[in-house]
Amino acid sequence: MTDDTFARTFPAGFTWGTATAAYQIEGAAAEGGRTPSIWDTYAHFSGRVDRNDSGDVADDHYHRWAEDVDHLAQLGVGAYRLSISWSRVIPTGRGPLNPEGVAFYRTLLTALRERGIQPYVTLYHWDLPQELEDEGGWTVRSTAEAFADYARAVVAELGDLVKVWTTLNEPWCSAYLGYASGVHAPGRSEPAGALAAVHHLNLAHGLAALAIREVEPDARVSVTLNLHVLRAADPTSEGDLDAVRRIDALGNRAFLAPMLEGEYPADLLADTAAVTDWGFVQDGDLEIVRQPLDVLGVNYYSTTTVSAGDAAAAPEDLGVESTAADGHRPSSHSAWVGSEDVKFAAPTGPLTSMGWNQEPAGLTELLVELGKRYPGQPLMVTENGAAFEDEESVDAVGRRRVHDAARVAYLHDHVDALGAAIDAGADVRGYFAWSLLDNFEWGWGYSKRFGIIRVDYDTLERVWKDSAHWYRRLSTTGALPA
Ligand code: NOJ
Repeated sequence: MTDDTFARTFPAGFTWGTATAAYQIEGAAAEGGRTPSIWDTYAHFSGRVDRNDSGDVADDHYHRWAEDVDHLAQLGVGAYRLSISWSRVIPTGRGPLNPEGVAFYRTLLTALRERGIQPYVTLYHWDLPQELEDEGGWTVRSTAEAFADYARAVVAELGDLVKVWTTLNEPWCSAYLGYASGVHAPGRSEPAGALAAVHHLNLAHGLAALAIREVEPDARVSVTLNLHVLRAADPTSEGDLDAVRRIDALGNRAFLAPMLEGEYPADLLADTAAVTDWGFVQDGDLEIVRQPLDVLGVNYYSTTTVSAGDAAAAPEDLGVESTAADGHRPSSHSAWVGSEDVKFAAPTGPLTSMGWNQEPAGLTELLVELGKRYPGQPLMVTENGAAFEDEESVDAVGRRRVHDAARVAYLHDHVDALGAAIDAGADVRGYFAWSLLDNFEWGWGYSKRFGIIRVDYDTLERVWKDSAHWYRRLSTTGALPA
């Protein structure tokens, strides 16, 4: 429907949700038997998180989950995407379950279901138990095997409460930001290790998908990828187009091709031949990695523009800021193993406070292209949102307010772009706003606010921003205002 009041309406079965992740909101880092993950270690000891913030307290969701479930219910969302902290449920990474950790999630998931909110549960949102990192982390195969055991154990405990399980969130970040540029935990800079991590994460996904279905044959399995929408600085330049191809191979096809087609792209292997011979890929691995996906989750925030660069130039000369708190900016140059000769353009406005450009059309393009490349593959936007410098005010009757018009506009334009992708034939089943709450934004700490609900970090009070009111109207009506 299109009239003056509404830009578009979405089908009744379309899923509206919000998303969070364990380390970013839970806090209670040393409670209930939880042991440190790589993010506890990185935040405490690396000196590389903005203002040395950590997830020790975060949004204190571990204690305030009931209030947060109330907020979700008031928002009227049909779904909530959360992640499980591996070291909360299996403190040593492998071995016995921690009953207190399992009980926390059982209580939370039960409360969500009682309110009619479907939980979408991610098993790995970057918080590897530190004990497993000490044994090599994602650079070693045994981590993938431990992940499958963890998945099997969690699904056996909680499978009655969860229909959709997501294996990994943004494995690109885990591999390249964790092990190449080192701007994420565990903060290592080992190009060959990063590519081994790519493979072991892919393998972990496949092994976990098998384990989930073994325990719960009716479970729906998904994975969430941060696919890069790439632009050539000069679309008529062969060199720039080749830069797009290289980054597409490393950033997109390194995950999509094994997961959905059962192979690593030949050009990826060729481009990275000087870094590794990919000897860590064993016979039979690719059949394991390729598992049917009930949903392919896509996280989308912005686009990336590249051109052919000077192989000898240092990153600073390439117009790329590579600061310690670089977050997971796709332009973090040293993340792109084997593409030292690619130059990343500084994003042009309008920018969010992350310095990311806003280009809703990129979301349409991405979804339509995925639909064409993988016909019949259901898609969901599992994250989309923006950080802005929110300002709090008090209204005439003393209520706290956040007039975040820029975030409302960002969400509006991206939901509209998603609708355009459906119109163009993409099978997109849902949309999750990132994030329910302001939270620990990784290398940026608490300095960046993505929430539709504000968190007052002094009192931990939750304050609805205008975007939350706006999102409630959207999720309860399915109608996007004009
Ligand atoms: C992607 C990640 O999954 C999430 O953890 C992060 O906070 C958002 N993007 C925003 O950067």
